[in-house]
Amino acid sequence: MAQTTTDHETDGAAAVVPIASPSIRIDVAGGASQVEHPTDGAAEPVVRLEQVSCFYGSFRAVREISTEVRRNRITALIGPSGCGKSTLLRTLNRMNDLVPGFKVEGRLLFEGTDLFDRSVDPVALRRVVGMVFQKPNPFPKSIYDNVAYGPRINGYKGKMDELVESSLRRAALWDEVKDKLKQSALALSGGQQQRLCIARTIAVEPDLILMDEPCSALDPRATLQIEDLMEELKERYTILIVTHNMQQAARASDHTVFLTMGDDRAGYLVEEGPTTQIFTNPRERLTEEYVSGRFG
Ligand SMILES: Nc1ncnc2c1ncn2[C@@H]1O[C@H](COP(=O)(O)OP(=O)(O)O)[C@@H](O)[C@H]1O
Ligand SMILES: [Mg+2]
Repeated sequence: MAQTTTDHETDGAAAVVPIASPSIRIDVAGGASQVEHPTDGAAEPVVRLEQVSCFYGSFRAVREISTEVRRNRITALIGPSGCGKSTLLRTLNRMNDLVPGFKVEGRLLFEGTDLFDRSVDPVALRRVVGMVFQKPNPFPKSIYDNVAYGPRINGYKGKMDELVESSLRRAALWDEVKDKLKQSALALSGGQQQRLCIARTIAVEPDLILMDEPCSALDPRATLQIEDLMEELKERYTILIVTHNMQQAARASDHTVFLTMGDDRAGYLVEEGPTTQIFTNPRERLTEEYVSGRFG
């Protein structure tokens, strides 16, 4: 079976063309991209999966998953290695379109629009669905230019200095870098680089932020900083995070979705619910074994 491990190389910030969909309205000329939420936004899920299966050629990596990602909360996706967590994330911003033989069955709705509808431009989608990867991947540019990159290519007309500052502040990095904005991003520590990648992602005001094990390359202190930051960001954004770290899922998320694999190695959803319930009072034995560290 063909396997690739190139999943940390694509950047979610780049996009120019708005998605031609009545339910995803993007004002390119105005601010950093403005996505208008429906007024009853609190009730509407940002993402809804209906019986979603993902295939690489004839291999089914994910089987019939139905779930929702709700606005302004942190949803954790947990489960053993290989159960399809990254596959689901990459499907949500259509990065897996680039993998030959990749196929999706079922329906994925983003803001009520079918993600695979012909009117959806995957490049534009990746602006409203930002991605933060396992390994921090700043561009080999200055700190300032990393944050300004996405807004610039989107034709941002406002005051760039202010947007860069507010994005860095919201990513809890401003105080550490305000005196060296013109220096290379590559000189920052790993934790700072990851916060810069978050600043870069939020500078274009995404509607959903996907994070694939964003702390696994960081030390414990930098990890806690990112978790604190996520807590602040959820006031304004919606976060779907994959994590291997059970303590992190328990500490940082509001809602937890647990996947495991069957004998055919296809990942399926065992149980989901409020994070405290999944960790303290799971309904399924498989969940209990996994969250207590006895399996996976
Ligand atoms: N590009 C690919 N081509 C073929 N198989 C893949 C590809 N990416 C992942 N897989 C397979 O899909 C399954 C799920 O992988 P992945 O989504 O990376 O799991 P997780 O992130 O939960 O560890 C695994 O069996 C993996 O080998
Ligand atoms: Mg993964």
